[in-house]
Amino acid sequence: MTTHAVQLTAVSRRYGAPGTGVTALDDVGLTLARGSFTAVMGPSGSGKSTLLQCAAGLDRPTSGSVRIGGTELTGLSERRLTLLRRERIGFVFQAYNLLPALTAEQNVALPLRLAGRRPRREQVLDALRQVGLADRAGHRPDRLSGGQQQRVALARAVITRPEVLFGDEPTGALDSGSGREVLTLLRSLADDGRTVVMVTHDPLAASYADRVVFLVDGRVHGELRGAGTSVETIAASMARLETAQGTAADTPSAGTAAGTADSTAVGTSDSTAGAAC
Ligand SMILES: Nc1ncnc2c1ncn2[C@@H]1O[C@H](COP(=O)(O)OP(=O)(O)OP(=O)(O)O)[C@@H](O)[C@H]1O
Ligand SMILES: [Mg+2]
Repeated sequence: MTTHAVQLTAVSRRYGAPGTGVTALDDVGLTLARGSFTAVMGPSGSGKSTLLQCAAGLDRPTSGSVRIGGTELTGLSERRLTLLRRERIGFVFQAYNLLPALTAEQNVALPLRLAGRRPRREQVLDALRQVGLADRAGHRPDRLSGGQQQRVALARAVITRPEVLFGDEPTGALDSGSGREVLTLLRSLADDGRTVVMVTHDPLAASYADRVVFLVDGRVHGELRGAGTSVETIAASMARLETAQGTAADTPSAGTAAGTADSTAVGTSDSTAGAAC
Protein backbone atom coordinates (compact mmCIF):
# COMPACT_ATOMS: atom_id res chain seq x y z
CA MET A 1 0.00 0.00 0.00
CA THR A 2 1.31 3.43 -0.88
CA THR A 3 1.63 5.71 2.07
CA HIS A 4 1.80 9.38 1.28
CA ALA A 5 4.29 11.63 3.03
CA VAL A 6 1.52 13.94 4.19
CA GLN A 7 -2.23 13.50 3.91
CA LEU A 8 -4.82 15.98 5.12
CA THR A 9 -8.45 14.95 4.88
CA ALA A 10 -11.29 17.41 5.53
CA VAL A 11 -9.12 19.46 7.87
CA SER A 12 -10.76 22.47 9.49
CA ARG A 13 -9.28 24.73 12.13
CA ARG A 14 -11.47 27.24 13.87
CA TYR A 15 -10.42 29.74 16.49
CA GLY A 16 -12.83 31.15 19.07
CA ALA A 17 -16.45 30.35 19.70
CA PRO A 18 -18.50 28.59 17.02
CA GLY A 19 -20.40 31.12 14.93
CA THR A 20 -18.38 34.13 16.04
CA GLY A 21 -14.82 32.84 15.70
CA VAL A 22 -12.41 32.65 12.77
CA THR A 23 -12.28 29.70 10.38
CA ALA A 24 -8.58 29.57 9.47
CA LEU A 25 -8.89 26.28 7.56
CA ASP A 26 -12.10 25.11 5.99
CA ASP A 27 -12.36 21.48 4.87
CA VAL A 28 -8.88 21.20 3.39
CA GLY A 29 -7.87 18.04 1.55
CA LEU A 30 -4.26 17.68 0.44
CA THR A 31 -2.04 14.73 -0.36
CA LEU A 32 1.70 15.15 -0.76
CA ALA A 33 3.82 12.46 -2.34
CA ARG A 34 7.15 11.37 -0.89
CA GLY A 35 10.03 13.32 -2.31
CA SER A 36 7.80 16.14 -3.55
CA PHE A 37 8.50 19.84 -3.07
CA THR A 38 5.30 21.80 -2.56
CA ALA A 39 4.90 25.54 -2.18
CA VAL A 40 1.82 26.88 -0.41
CA MET A 41 0.76 30.37 -1.46
CA GLY A 42 -2.17 32.66 -0.81
CA PRO A 43 -3.08 36.10 0.47
CA SER A 44 -2.21 37.13 4.02
CA GLY A 45 -4.61 35.50 6.45
CA SER A 46 -5.61 32.75 4.01
CA GLY A 47 -4.49 30.02 6.44
CA LYS A 48 -1.03 29.05 5.16
CA SER A 49 0.73 29.00 8.54
CA THR A 50 -2.23 27.26 10.14
CA LEU A 51 -2.12 24.62 7.41
CA LEU A 52 1.59 24.04 7.95
CA GLN A 53 1.25 23.87 11.71
CA CYS A 54 -1.62 21.40 11.54
CA ALA A 55 0.26 19.27 9.01
CA ALA A 56 3.43 19.32 11.13
CA GLY A 57 1.69 18.41 14.38
CA LEU A 58 2.40 21.81 15.92
CA ASP A 59 -1.31 22.58 16.09
CA ARG A 60 -4.38 20.37 16.21
CA PRO A 61 -7.22 20.72 13.69
CA THR A 62 -10.71 21.28 15.05
CA SER A 63 -11.84 18.44 12.79
CA GLY A 64 -10.45 16.23 10.07
CA SER A 65 -7.48 13.93 9.77
CA VAL A 66 -3.74 14.54 9.39
CA ARG A 67 -1.40 11.70 8.50
CA ILE A 68 2.37 11.75 8.28
CA GLY A 69 3.69 8.69 6.48
CA GLY A 70 0.59 6.74 7.40
CA THR A 71 0.56 7.75 11.08
CA GLU A 72 -2.65 9.47 12.16
CA LEU A 73 -1.71 12.56 14.19
CA THR A 74 -5.11 13.53 15.46
CA GLY A 75 -5.73 11.64 18.66
CA LEU A 76 -2.06 11.20 19.54
CA SER A 77 -1.17 12.24 23.07
CA GLU A 78 1.00 15.34 23.48
CA ARG A 79 3.92 13.11 24.34
CA ARG A 80 3.57 10.90 21.27
CA LEU A 81 3.10 13.99 19.11
CA THR A 82 6.27 15.56 20.51
CA LEU A 83 8.21 12.38 19.80
CA LEU A 84 6.84 12.21 16.26
CA ARG A 85 7.78 15.83 15.59
CA ARG A 86 11.23 15.25 17.00
CA GLU A 87 11.95 12.15 14.99
CA ARG A 88 10.05 12.54 11.75
CA ILE A 89 9.52 16.24 11.09
CA GLY A 90 11.79 19.21 10.50
CA PHE A 91 10.65 22.81 10.65
CA VAL A 92 12.28 26.09 9.59
CA PHE A 93 10.81 29.48 10.36
CA GLN A 94 11.14 32.90 8.80
CA ALA A 95 12.98 34.15 11.91
CA TYR A 96 15.51 31.25 12.00
CA ASN A 97 14.87 30.66 15.75
CA LEU A 98 18.45 29.66 16.57
CA LEU A 99 19.46 29.76 20.22
CA PRO A 100 21.71 32.84 20.52
CA ALA A 101 23.95 31.46 23.27
CA LEU A 102 24.86 28.34 21.29
CA THR A 103 27.35 28.01 18.45
CA ALA A 104 26.23 26.86 15.01
CA GLU A 105 27.49 23.37 15.83
CA GLN A 106 25.64 23.27 19.16
CA ASN A 107 22.44 24.56 17.54
CA VAL A 108 22.59 21.84 14.89
CA ALA A 109 23.28 19.15 17.52
CA LEU A 110 20.33 20.26 19.65
CA PRO A 111 17.57 18.07 18.16
CA LEU A 112 19.72 14.99 18.69
CA ARG A 113 20.43 15.96 22.30
CA LEU A 114 16.73 16.63 22.91
CA ALA A 115 16.02 13.15 21.58
CA GLY A 116 18.45 11.77 24.15
CA ARG A 117 21.01 10.85 21.52
CA ARG A 118 24.66 11.66 21.76
CA PRO A 119 25.53 13.61 18.61
CA ARG A 120 28.66 12.48 16.79
CA ARG A 121 30.73 15.53 15.99
CA GLU A 122 31.38 14.28 12.46
CA GLN A 123 27.63 13.97 11.84
CA VAL A 124 27.01 17.54 12.97
CA LEU A 125 29.90 18.92 10.94
CA ASP A 126 28.67 16.97 7.96
CA ALA A 127 25.24 18.64 8.26
CA LEU A 128 26.97 22.02 8.38
CA ARG A 129 29.12 21.04 5.43
CA GLN A 130 25.99 20.26 3.41
CA VAL A 131 24.81 23.84 3.87
CA GLY A 132 28.29 25.20 3.13
CA LEU A 133 29.06 26.31 6.68
CA ALA A 134 31.52 23.79 8.10
CA ASP A 135 33.99 26.61 8.65
CA ARG A 136 31.47 28.48 10.83
CA ALA A 137 30.82 25.66 13.29
CA GLY A 138 32.17 27.62 16.25
CA HIS A 139 30.32 30.85 15.46
CA ARG A 140 27.31 32.02 17.41
CA PRO A 141 24.27 33.32 15.46
CA ASP A 142 25.11 36.98 16.05
CA ARG A 143 28.30 36.46 14.05
CA LEU A 144 26.43 35.00 11.07
CA SER A 145 24.46 36.74 8.33
CA GLY A 146 20.72 36.12 8.01
CA GLY A 147 21.28 33.72 5.13
CA GLN A 148 23.94 31.84 7.06
CA GLN A 149 21.67 31.63 10.11
CA GLN A 150 18.89 30.19 7.98
CA ARG A 151 21.29 27.63 6.54
CA VAL A 152 22.26 26.62 10.11
CA ALA A 153 18.54 26.35 10.90
CA LEU A 154 18.19 24.09 7.84
CA ALA A 155 21.08 21.90 8.98
CA ARG A 156 19.42 21.69 12.40
CA ALA A 157 16.08 20.77 10.81
CA VAL A 158 17.52 17.90 8.78
CA ILE A 159 20.08 16.46 11.24
CA THR A 160 17.51 13.90 12.39
CA ARG A 161 16.80 12.96 8.74
CA PRO A 162 13.10 13.89 8.98
CA GLU A 163 10.59 12.46 6.51
CA VAL A 164 9.07 15.88 5.93
CA LEU A 165 10.62 19.31 6.13
CA PHE A 166 8.22 22.21 6.65
CA GLY A 167 9.24 25.83 6.11
CA ASP A 168 7.08 28.86 6.92
CA GLU A 169 8.42 31.64 4.69
CA PRO A 170 11.99 30.39 5.13
CA THR A 171 13.30 32.99 2.69
CA GLY A 172 10.97 35.78 3.84
CA ALA A 173 13.68 37.64 5.75
CA LEU A 174 16.53 37.04 3.31
CA ASP A 175 18.00 39.06 0.46
CA SER A 176 17.59 37.48 -2.95
CA GLY A 177 21.06 35.91 -3.05
CA SER A 178 20.75 34.26 0.38
CA GLY A 179 17.21 33.27 -0.47
CA ARG A 180 18.38 31.50 -3.60
CA GLU A 181 20.99 29.55 -1.58
CA VAL A 182 18.33 28.35 0.84
CA LEU A 183 15.94 27.47 -2.00
CA THR A 184 18.65 25.53 -3.81
CA LEU A 185 19.24 23.56 -0.61
CA LEU A 186 15.52 22.84 -0.23
CA ARG A 187 15.38 21.73 -3.86
CA SER A 188 18.32 19.38 -3.38
CA LEU A 189 16.74 17.90 -0.25
CA ALA A 190 13.64 17.08 -2.29
CA ASP A 191 15.79 15.70 -5.12
CA ASP A 192 17.36 13.40 -2.49
CA GLY A 193 13.92 12.04 -1.61
CA ARG A 194 12.97 14.28 1.29
CA THR A 195 9.45 15.74 1.24
CA VAL A 196 9.51 19.53 1.45
CA VAL A 197 6.55 21.86 2.10
CA MET A 198 7.16 25.59 2.06
CA VAL A 199 4.87 28.55 2.61
CA THR A 200 5.93 31.57 0.60
CA HIS A 201 4.66 34.88 -0.73
CA ASP A 202 7.36 34.95 -3.38
CA PRO A 203 6.61 33.52 -6.87
CA LEU A 204 10.35 33.11 -7.49
CA ALA A 205 10.68 30.96 -4.35
CA ALA A 206 7.61 28.95 -5.36
CA SER A 207 9.15 28.29 -8.78
CA TYR A 208 11.69 25.99 -7.11
CA ALA A 209 8.84 23.67 -6.08
CA ASP A 210 7.21 21.07 -8.32
CA ARG A 211 3.74 21.93 -7.11
CA VAL A 212 2.16 25.18 -5.95
CA VAL A 213 -1.02 24.94 -3.89
CA PHE A 214 -3.09 28.10 -3.47
CA LEU A 215 -5.19 28.90 -0.43
CA VAL A 216 -7.94 31.50 -0.22
CA ASP A 217 -10.02 32.04 2.91
CA GLY A 218 -8.85 28.75 4.41
CA ARG A 219 -9.68 26.66 1.35
CA VAL A 220 -7.58 25.12 -1.37
CA HIS A 221 -8.26 27.25 -4.42
CA GLY A 222 -6.40 25.55 -7.22
CA GLU A 223 -2.84 24.56 -7.89
CA LEU A 224 -0.05 24.55 -10.44
CA ARG A 225 1.95 21.44 -11.10
CA GLY A 226 5.20 20.67 -12.84
CA ALA A 227 8.78 21.45 -11.90
CA GLY A 228 9.92 24.64 -13.53
CA THR A 229 6.56 26.41 -13.61
CA SER A 230 7.47 29.95 -14.59
CA VAL A 231 7.64 32.77 -12.10
CA GLU A 232 5.28 34.76 -14.34
CA THR A 233 2.64 32.01 -14.30
CA ILE A 234 2.80 31.77 -10.52
CA ALA A 235 2.71 35.55 -10.11
CA ALA A 236 -0.34 35.83 -12.40
CA SER A 237 -2.17 33.17 -10.38
CA MET A 238 -1.31 34.96 -7.15
CA ALA A 239 -2.58 38.26 -8.52
CA ARG A 240 -5.93 36.61 -9.33
CA LEU A 241 -6.06 35.15 -5.82
CA GLU A 242 -5.49 38.48 -4.13
CA THR A 243 -8.74 39.67 -5.69
CA ALA A 244 -10.51 36.40 -4.84
CA GLN A 245 -9.72 36.69 -1.10
CA GLY A 246 -12.88 37.59 0.76
CA THR A 247 -15.14 36.60 -2.12
CA ALA A 248 -14.10 32.94 -2.33
CA ALA A 249 -16.95 31.81 -0.11
CA ASP A 250 -19.38 33.27 -2.62
CA THR A 251 -17.66 31.76 -5.65
CA PRO A 252 -16.84 28.15 -4.90
CA SER A 253 -13.94 26.79 -6.92
CA ALA A 254 -15.53 23.52 -7.90
CA GLY A 255 -13.06 21.03 -9.25
CA THR A 256 -9.98 22.97 -8.33
CA ALA A 257 -9.25 21.45 -4.95
CA ALA A 258 -5.99 19.58 -4.72
CA GLY A 259 -7.84 16.41 -3.90
CA THR A 260 -9.12 16.35 -7.45
CA ALA A 261 -5.76 16.97 -9.03
CA ASP A 262 -4.90 13.30 -9.43
CA SER A 263 -7.50 13.08 -12.14
CA THR A 264 -6.22 16.18 -13.89
CA ALA A 265 -3.68 16.08 -16.69
CA VAL A 266 -0.57 17.49 -15.09
CA GLY A 267 3.14 17.27 -15.37
CA THR A 268 4.14 19.81 -17.94
CA SER A 269 6.21 22.72 -16.84
CA ASP A 270 3.47 25.29 -17.22
CA SER A 271 0.41 23.18 -16.57
CA THR A 272 -2.34 25.04 -14.83
CA ALA A 273 -4.34 22.28 -13.21
CA GLY A 274 -7.33 24.24 -12.01
CA ALA A 275 -5.05 27.10 -11.14
CA ALA A 276 -6.27 30.02 -9.18
CA CYS A 277 -9.48 30.64 -11.00
N1 LIG B 1 -4.20 31.91 17.51
C1 LIG B 1 -5.13 32.47 16.74
N2 LIG B 1 -6.27 32.94 17.27
C2 LIG B 1 -7.24 33.49 16.50
N3 LIG B 1 -7.15 33.60 15.16
C3 LIG B 1 -6.03 33.15 14.56
C4 LIG B 1 -4.96 32.58 15.32
N4 LIG B 1 -3.97 32.21 14.45
C5 LIG B 1 -4.41 32.57 13.24
N5 LIG B 1 -5.63 33.12 13.30
C6 LIG B 1 -6.45 33.61 12.17
O1 LIG B 1 -6.53 32.57 11.23
C7 LIG B 1 -6.46 33.08 9.90
C8 LIG B 1 -5.31 32.40 9.17
O2 LIG B 1 -4.09 32.79 9.78
P1 LIG B 1 -2.69 32.28 9.25
O3 LIG B 1 -1.65 32.77 10.20
O4 LIG B 1 -2.74 30.84 9.00
O5 LIG B 1 -2.59 33.06 7.85
P2 LIG B 1 -1.39 33.14 6.81
O6 LIG B 1 -1.95 32.74 5.48
O7 LIG B 1 -0.21 32.39 7.31
O8 LIG B 1 -1.10 34.70 6.78
P3 LIG B 1 0.30 35.49 6.56
O9 LIG B 1 0.60 35.40 5.09
O10 LIG B 1 -0.02 36.89 6.97
O11 LIG B 1 1.35 34.85 7.42
C9 LIG B 1 -6.30 34.59 10.04
O12 LIG B 1 -7.58 35.17 9.92
C10 LIG B 1 -5.78 34.75 11.44
O13 LIG B 1 -6.14 36.00 11.98
MG1 LIG C 1 1.71 32.95 7.95
